Amino acid sequence: MNLDKIVCNCMSVTSGMIKDAVDAGASTLEEVQEATGASTVCGACLEDVERLVQYFVSERDAK
Ligand code: FES
Repeated sequence: MNLDKIVCNCMSVTSGMIKDAVDAGASTLEEVQEATGASTVCGACLEDVERLVQYFVSERDAK
């Protein structure tokens, strides 16, 4: 996965920033929104952000 890829254009949030938020303890879409600002403007990226949150949470909790 390219962690430098921008997922949320409005807030310039990358996949890596979502991963960092999850690794820092965020486990839900809402917590990641709060931590990164992702998906708090137009909402176009919501599904992608949600998918990444689920992915990174399962990756984190599998450790
Ligand atoms: S692209 Fe993420 S809120 Fe607009």
